[in-house]
This record gives sequence, structure tokens and C-alpha cells, in this order.
Amino acid sequence: MNDQPNTAEHSDYDFHPAAKLDELKDGQGTSVRIEGHVIGLFKSNNEHFAISDFCPHQGASLSGGYVEDGLVMCPWHAWKFRLNDGAWADSPKSPLRCQTYPIRIVDDQILVGVPKEQPK
Ligand code: FES
Repeated sequence: MNDQPNTAEHSDYDFHPAAKLDELKDGQGTSVRIEGHVIGLFKSNNEHFAISDFCPHQGASLSGGYVEDGLVMCPWHAWKFRLNDGAWADSPKSPLRCQTYPIRIVDDQILVGVPKEQPK
């Protein structure tokens, strides 16, 4: 099992299969829906990333954007976001950012963690 770094505790997440490793090529993104979350799953420089698939500018699907060197460029107005932390790469000090999701690789599967529902 290979965990990638994330700021949140992974015990706060439920991990779900999102894609097989060979389904995602380097420099590519795809959209997956898990437990009501619409998530952009990306591969860049041989690492996998998962961030919200809604651009915080006007809601375009980021998974259809251009991916290079750990960044995705929104297909609508070319804003760039960092895949590792969801920050707006054009203005990294801005509070504007995409939600990120932790990833685990188990055998040939990419698992994405979504926050566990809190008991009501
Ligand atoms: S909708 Fe993404 S940059 Fe405008």
C-alpha cells in the first residue's frame, strides 16, 4: 500500500475504488463520483492526485483541463491549480482553492478517500 501525503488524518476518510492504475495515463485527468463528491482524478509526473472537479471560478470540470508538472489548467479560462494541495497556482496566497482528497494505491486500484459522515 502506498499512501500519498495529505494534511488530514486518513482515519477521517472512507476509501473507495476510483479507477485502475492503467486507466489513467500521465498528464491525464478523469472525473469520478464517489458518495456524492464529484472528484477529478489526475496523474502527473507519475503521481496520482484527487481534487474537486469543480473549478472555483465558474464551475468548469477541471478533469478536462491540461495537466502538466503537478498543475491542472482549467479548460474554460486557463486558471491553474496545484494538484497536491488544490491551491490556485496563479495566486498561491489566495484562500481560493479546490478541495483535495487522499489517495491510496492498493494492487492495481486507485482508491480515493472521501470524508466520513459525522454522526448526527
Ligand atoms: S471556470 Fe475555471 S477558470 Fe473560469
